[in-house]
This record gives sequence, C-alpha cells and structure tokens, in this order.
Amino acid sequence: MNRKVSVIGAGNVGATAARSIADKELADVVILDIPQMQGVAQGKGLDMLEACPVEGSDARVLGTSDYADTAGSDIVVITAGLARKPGMSRDDLLTKNCAIVSSVTAQVMEHSPDCIIMPVTNPLDAMAQVVYRKSGLPRERVIGMAGVLDSARMRAFIAQELDVSVENTHAFVLGGHGDTMVPLPRYSTVAGVPITELLDKETVDAIVHRTAHGGAEIVKLLGTGSAYYAPGSAVVEMVESVLKDKKKILPCSVFLNGEYGVHGLFVGVPCKLGANGLEQIIQIDLTAEENAALKKSAAAVQELVQVIDMD
Ligand code: APR
Repeated sequence: MNRKVSVIGAGNVGATAARSIADKELADVVILDIPQMQGVAQGKGLDMLEACPVEGSDARVLGTSDYADTAGSDIVVITAGLARKPGMSRDDLLTKNCAIVSSVTAQVMEHSPDCIIMPVTNPLDAMAQVVYRKSGLPRERVIGMAGVLDSARMRAFIAQELDVSVENTHAFVLGGHGDTMVPLPRYSTVAGVPITELLDKETVDAIVHRTAHGGAEIVKLLGTGSAYYAPGSAVVEMVESVLKDKKKILPCSVFLNGEYGVHGLFVGVPCKLGANGLEQIIQIDLTAEENAALKKSAAAVQELVQVIDMD
C-alpha cells in the first residue's frame, strides 16, 4: 500500500480504528503505544496483521513503541491518553491528557512533518488546540474527531425511534464535544425530511438530550472505560474521506478564524474533508437560539483552553 496511517495509543479506541483501517485496506497501519505497555501495541499489531488474510486485505500492520516506525505517515490519529472513568467528566482529564498529547505531537512531527493529524483524545476540542499549537501545522491539517461520533449516535437514536434504515438518516451536531454540544433537529433528517416534521417535540428533545449525554451513557454501562466502537468507526470515516479524496461533509472540530463568529478556537462545524485535509468550512444560517447555544458551547471550550494556557 502506498498510504500510511499511524495510530498513537493502542488502547480500545486506537486498536478499533487501526483494525478498521486495515480491514478496509485504506492504508498501511502503524499502531504505537508507550514502552511501559510492554508489547501491547506489538501484540495487537501482529494480531491485526494475521486477520488481514481472512479479511482479504493486503494492508501491512505494525505494532511498535518506536516513533521512527511512524515516519512518513499521511495521517496520524491520536488516541493516546487516559479514558474517562465513571463519575469523571471529560474535562477532568484535561491536564493529564494535555501533557500526553503535547509530547505525542512533538514526536509525531519529528518523523511526519507534513502529516494530517486527527486527535481523538478527550477533552477533544482542547486537545485539538494542543496539537495545533504544538505541531505548527496549518489549520487544514489538524482535524478533531467528535461530530461524526455525536451525529452517529443521534442517527442511531432517530433510526430506532422511526424504525427506518440508518442509511436514510442524517444528523447535524455542532459545537464542542461536551455536554454543551448543539444537536440541530431542523437540519437532522430522514430521507430528506426534517425530524421536527416526523416526531413530536418531546421525542425530539429526548433524542437531543440522549445524544448530548451519549458518551456518559456508555461510560456508566461499561463501568471501566469509555466508548470505543463508535469513536473508532467515526475517525475511520474521516481518514477514508481524506485518503480517497471523497470530499465528504462531516462535522469535525477545526480551528475557527471567525466562522460562526468564533475566533481562534477549535469547535465542531460542518467541514469538507478531502486530500488536502480540511478543504472548506460549510457555513449555515443559525436561528438566534441555535447561535446562542453554539456560543455557549464555544465558551465552554475556551474555558478549558485557558486552563491549559493554549490560546
Ligand atoms: N504515548 C502513546 N500512548 C499513550 C501515551 C503516550 N504518551 N500515554 C498513554 N498512552 C496509551 C495508553 O497506554 C493506552 O494504551 O493510550 C492508550 C489509551 O487507551 P485506553 O485506556 O483503552 O483508552 P481509549 O478507550 O482508547 O480512549 C482513548 O480517546 O475517546 C477518547 O476519551 C477517550 O481520551 C480517551 C482516548
């Protein structure tokens, strides 16, 4: 394969994403974890490589603790960090994950100075800001994964509620990847029809609430970690859109320079992802209420960014 994706962090999200990239034969895959994890990345990488003949994939998968093996990556997915435990908010993770993501970014840049980085580690929008500042990459090349996951959750709930194929659903979620995220029901549709015309207000509100708390719902059920199947799938959809230059419009956390009235902050907005990374930010008109919700969400991200001094 002539494309290379490195996944930093061989935990639940990293391994799920790496396996999916290999299975779909999108690129060769390097999965890296710290030496203290004693062979976990190496073991998982070999296991994935051995799954490839069954999956019919010629992707080469390598597990490692050595950043030299990540050299020349087209895309680097960062999942390194601590996962949320029950009772812990995403924001509690802030300081610890900031240190981890900062050191990971420095090492990634040494070996792949022109890569596109997709942070997944939480709290996502703040970690994307860390990657952006630390890497010095242009904003087109730092694209945080959050909105694809949040809208996938919303789509699953809409499909369940209306007993329709998930393929007929589209969901629109803006804002930071936290409790203040902004699901937009009037832009969320089934076969092109807004859900506000298909469901009563109470049901729509319940779907919006469940979407905004979708991560916490899984944390509570799992007891010992946070979601990883849907986060893994979500980042792979972004990877695929870039590697295949599909130009999909996906909600991603990107550095806003005045779009949506937000300046100098990573916040989730609809983005076109193609070979050059972030190729366009799609601006849509918001109602006064939606705009206020987005501003509130951006303010929550700003608070975190100030704590870690990454303005
Ligand atoms: N460099 C590389 N890997 C690291 C580093 C580091 N400096 N520090 C920690 N890791 C690794 C851990 O060793 C672990 O294997 O990151 C991995 C994280 O895996 P899990 O604990 O299984 O967490 P996971 O569920 O994958 O979530 C990772 O993604 O969705 C977010 O909130 C989630 O921030 C969390 C991240």
